[in-house]
Amino acid sequence: MWMRLVRFLRPRKVRLILISLLLVCLLHYLVPRQEHFYNELFRRLYYFPIFLGGFWYGLRGGLGMGLLVVLLYLPQVFMAWGEGQAMFYSRLMEVCLFTLAGPVVGLLSDREKRQRIRNQELETLAALGEAAASVAHEMKNIVIPIRGFLRRIREAEALDGKASEYLDIAERESARLENMTKDMLAFARQAPLQREEVHMRSFLEELRVSLQIPFKEKRVRLICACEPREMSVPIDRERIRHALVNLLQNALHASTEGKEVRLTAAMDGDSVKIAVEDQGKGIPREDLDRIFLPFFSTKPKGTGLGLAITQAIVREHGGDISVESAVERGTRVLLDLPITRSQSPVNDSEHVGGKL
Ligand SMILES: Nc1ncnc2c1ncn2[C@@H]1O[C@H](COP(=O)(O)OP(=O)(O)OP(=O)(O)O)[C@@H](O)[C@H]1O
Ligand SMILES: [Mg+2]
Repeated sequence: MWMRLVRFLRPRKVRLILISLLLVCLLHYLVPRQEHFYNELFRRLYYFPIFLGGFWYGLRGGLGMGLLVVLLYLPQVFMAWGEGQAMFYSRLMEVCLFTLAGPVVGLLSDREKRQRIRNQELETLAALGEAAASVAHEMKNIVIPIRGFLRRIREAEALDGKASEYLDIAERESARLENMTKDMLAFARQAPLQREEVHMRSFLEELRVSLQIPFKEKRVRLICACEPREMSVPIDRERIRHALVNLLQNALHASTEGKEVRLTAAMDGDSVKIAVEDQGKGIPREDLDRIFLPFFSTKPKGTGLGLAITQAIVREHGGDISVESAVERGTRVLLDLPITRSQSPVNDSEHVGGKL
C-alpha cells in the first residue's frame, strides 16, 4: 500500500499537480469568507491542477483531478447553504464544471497525443520508404547486369556439373535479390491507382494457374472460389495481384504437405471481400501486432515487406485488411475492398498509402 503510494508520487508532474492543488485548497479555506474577491479568485484557481492532470495524464488524469477537487470543494458548497440560495447554487454549478473540465481537457489531450504518435509513425515510415527506395534502386541497378552476365556465361560455355550447379545457385540468389528490390520499390512507390473492371473469377483462376508449380511442389492444394460467379470489380489489377501473391506465398510457406489454401472472393453489399485461408502453423498472438510492420519477418530469407506492401495496396483502394489466426490451426487474411464505381472508376489518382 505504502509502496504503491510512494510509486504514485514519484513522478515530478504528479507532485507538482498535488502541491498546486494543496496550495489552492489551503488558500481557499484560509481566506476569510467575507473576502469575496479572494474567494472567487482561489475558487477559479482549482482549474489549474485539473487542467494539468488532464493535459499530462489524459482522460484518467483529468477525471481523477476533477473528482479530487470536487471532494475538497464540497464542504464549501455546504457552507454556502447559510449564505443564501444564490451562493449555494453558484457553488453547486462550480462542482459540475470541475467534474466536466477534467475529462474534456483529458480527452482533448489524449486525442492530440494519439495524433502526434500517428504523425511520428507516418514520418518514420515515409523516411523508411524513401531509404528503402533508394537502396532498392541501387541494388536493382547492380543485380540486373549480374543476371545478364550469368545468363551469357551459361549460353557461351559448356559447363561441367559443378560449375553449372554453382551458376544455378548464383542465378537463383540474384533472382531473389531482384524480387526483393522490386518489393522494396513497390513499397515506396507513389504512382496513382490504375483501376479497371476486373472479372473476378477469371482473375482468381489466372492467379491460381500462375502459382500452380510452387503449390504442386509442396503438395498443397490451392482452391479458388468466387460468389457470385460473374462479378466484375473496379480494382488495380496489377496491384491487387501483387497483394494476393504476397498472401498466397505466406499461406504456402506456413502450410505443410497435404494441407489446403483457399482463395475466395465474395460480394458483400458495397464491397468485395477477398480471403486467403490456410491450415498452416498460424501466427503467435505476440506477433500479430507486428506482422504489418515493414521488415518484420520470422523467416530466415524473408524481407518482411510482403504484408506491409499488401496493407498499403489495400489502403490505396480505400479498403481494410484484417488477420485472424490460431497457432497450429491456420490463418485467415481478409481484404475488404469498397466498390467505388460511382466515383470515376478508371485510372483514378487516389493514393492513401503514400510513400508509407
Ligand atoms: N499465413 C501465415 N501463416 C503464418 N505466419 C504468417 C502468415 N502470413 C504472415 N505470417 C507471419 O508474418 C510475417 C511477416 O510476413 P510478410 O509477408 O510481411 O514477410 P515475410 O513473408 O516474412 O517476407 P517477404 O517479404 O518475403 O514476404 C512472416 O514472417 C510470418 O511470421
Ligand atoms: Mg511474405
